[in-house]
Parts: sequence; structure tokens; C-alpha cells
Amino acid sequence: MESALTLTYAWLKAGHVIFVIFWIAGMFMLPRYYVYHQESAPGSEEEKRWIDREAKLRHIIITPSMILVWVLGLALAWTSGAYTEGWLHAKVALVLVLSAYHGWLIGYGRKLAKGERPLSGKALRIMNELPGLATVLIVILVIVKPF
Ligand code: HEM
Repeated sequence: MESALTLTYAWLKAGHVIFVIFWIAGMFMLPRYYVYHQESAPGSEEEKRWIDREAKLRHIIITPSMILVWVLGLALAWTSGAYTEGWLHAKVALVLVLSAYHGWLIGYGRKLAKGERPLSGKALRIMNELPGLATVLIVILVIVKPF
């Protein structure tokens, strides 16, 4: 019985890390797409291609991956009883920030598809640092478990 639980936990963790990679990789790519999109001429064929690529990245990769990271992460916390530990509370707070950034990226993509370009390429590049920073802190919390 104990080994079945250990095996389930290992599979849940493998799935969790796989979808973490897909989610974060997608969030590194999407603002880059937005920068290239904004460099294309408004109304051009190139702009239409960027709108299509962005929608595919959002619908096929990043949104399903975010949902699976949450579901598998919460299942891991439930199975191991880690939900009482400080490192997990801090981690979930950071994942909430990352999920809010995800929501902002989706909203920004919708504005771009309507022809609006609210931010400069430089501002988008700065925003693009956020998932990297969050990933560094989250991985330290989950592996070092400093508290
Ligand atoms: C709210 C969503 C999340 C929850 C509830 C959650 C929870 C957990 C739990 C309980 C573990 C098992 C830890 C252990 O066995 O020691 C784990 C493993 C892991 N999580 Fe998450 N996680 C979430 C999101 C994320 C995100 C966004 C990232 C990366 C940016 C991430 C990266 C990892 C990694 C790398 C591991 C494997 C650590 C290891 O076993 O050494 N998690 N997560």
C-alpha cells in the first residue's frame, strides 16, 4: 500500500514538473511574440500570422499547462500533507502572482488582436523578466525548503 502511494506521488510530481516546464516556456515565448507582433505593420498579413500564433500558444500550451500545474501541485500538497508548511504558502503566493501575469498576458493579446498596442517593446521586454524571477524563487522554495 505504501509503495502504491509512493508511486502515485512520483507520477504526480513527474506530471507537475513536465507541465511547469511547458507553462513557463510558453510564458517566456508569448511576450517575445508580442514584441515581434508590434514590429509588424498594422493590418498586414504578418500581423495576422502573429495573432494566429499567439492564440495557438495561449490555447494549446500555456492555459492548459497552467491548469494542470495547479491541479497536480494541489494534489501533491494534499497527498504529502505539505499544505501546512511555510515554503508551500510562500510558493503558492508566488504562483498566484505568476497566474495573474498569465491573465494579464491573455488580456494584452486580446488588445493586440483588436489593433491596440498599449505598451512599448521595451516595456514588454521588462515584463518578460517576471516569470524568470518567479521561477528562481519558486524552485529555491520547493527544493531548499528554507522554512
Ligand atoms: C499553486 C501551484 C503549485 C502547488 C500547490 C505546488 C506544490 C508542489 C508540491 C507539494 C511539490 C512536492 C514537493 C516535494 O515533494 O518535496 C511540488 C514539487 C515541485 N514544484 Fe510545485 N507547486 C505549484 C506550482 C509550481 C510552479 C509554478 C513551479 C515552477 C515555477 C513548481 C515547481 C516545482 C518543482 C521543480 C517541484 C519538484 C521539486 C522536487 O521534488 O525536488 N511548482 N510542487
